[in-house]
Amino acid sequence: MEPRGIKDGIYWIGAVDWDRRLFDELIPLPDGTSYNAYLVVGSEKTALIDTVDPTMTNILVNNLKKLNIKSLDYVITNHAEQDHSGSLPAILSLYPNAKVLATPKCKEILMDLLLIPENRIQAVNDGEALSLGDRTIEFIYFPWVHWPETMLTYLREDAILFTCDLFGSHLATSNLYAADEAAVYEAAKRYYAEIMMPFRHILQRNMDKLENFKIDIIAPSHGPIYRKPSFILEAYRDWVYSPPKNLALVLYVSMHKSTKAMVDYLVSALIERGVRVQQFNLSGADIGKIAISLVDAATIIIGSPTVLGGAHPNALYAAYLVNALRPKAMFAAVIGSYGWGTNIVQQITQILSPLKIEFLGTVLSKGYPKEDAFKALDNLAEKIVERHKKHSLA
Ligand code: FEO
Repeated sequence: MEPRGIKDGIYWIGAVDWDRRLFDELIPLPDGTSYNAYLVVGSEKTALIDTVDPTMTNILVNNLKKLNIKSLDYVITNHAEQDHSGSLPAILSLYPNAKVLATPKCKEILMDLLLIPENRIQAVNDGEALSLGDRTIEFIYFPWVHWPETMLTYLREDAILFTCDLFGSHLATSNLYAADEAAVYEAAKRYYAEIMMPFRHILQRNMDKLENFKIDIIAPSHGPIYRKPSFILEAYRDWVYSPPKNLALVLYVSMHKSTKAMVDYLVSALIERGVRVQQFNLSGADIGKIAISLVDAATIIIGSPTVLGGAHPNALYAAYLVNALRPKAMFAAVIGSYGWGTNIVQQITQILSPLKIEFLGTVLSKGYPKEDAFKALDNLAEKIVERHKKHSLA
């Protein structure tokens, strides 16, 4: 894609990756992604803000050529992960006078991961300002979004906040700006759930820093730019600060329909009692959609049959994912079926034990569920409703 002007002297010069379907060999990308790099031309100095994934270095280099950029003074690296820093070696070789500006921690990581020579990287301080002539750049330490070294870059006169991963979305689009708000909201929520949610408590402490800045534009390094910053700031406030919703998330796998019969019964019992439910069959479920539900769910129910004396591996993976993403959920339960002995509950509760979550109980059925199991599921539904009401979850 060609360079695209944001303002006079400020350009998007990144790359759109329409075809990428997996990130970190882990995260599904149903809508592709983009690696946004930005060029800021001041009256005296020129800065590149972030680079692109190493697979797309040629696109970034061509965009710099198209803008006839003969020299670069700074390459601001907000984050050391390779989808933003991977083209640094090529850019530094093309522009031998350019200095990388980064946090001290980022400097260390860039030297470790990309073998960038120490003398090419200048560490910057939190709050430090740097003049490009008629434009001023300010650095805002913002650690753990989602690595320890991250910072944001603020372009003072233009009131643009460059946030790298923070507020991003994995969304390949020809729209430079967030146009289809429903699509961007969904992609940004998926992104938050998968990447940022594990650091929710750190975000809670740092989000207030942004109150000190007048922000007209938020320019992340994935997905479209926000010309209406309140759109993404308000969404993040809800995801980061609000209590969970009156929502139960049911993650299950069933081999011979016994666990499925229990899931169907419990889901109906919850809906009848006014609890919203999202249900995922773990055989082939999109983990991004599960992650999105985890942003809001107050209760997580894991359903599994017994395989070789323990939980089904898909159920164990789901429990692992829940624990890793550190959601707001307050309550959990396990349901499932067995034939001759079971270790389901112990395995799943052990994986979830680092979470601050109240375990509401277990319903296990020997074989296909019978009257006693259905009664126990009714009791579990009652308990979930009672807890949600007690906390006034809406
Ligand atoms: Fe988009 Fe953490 O890299």
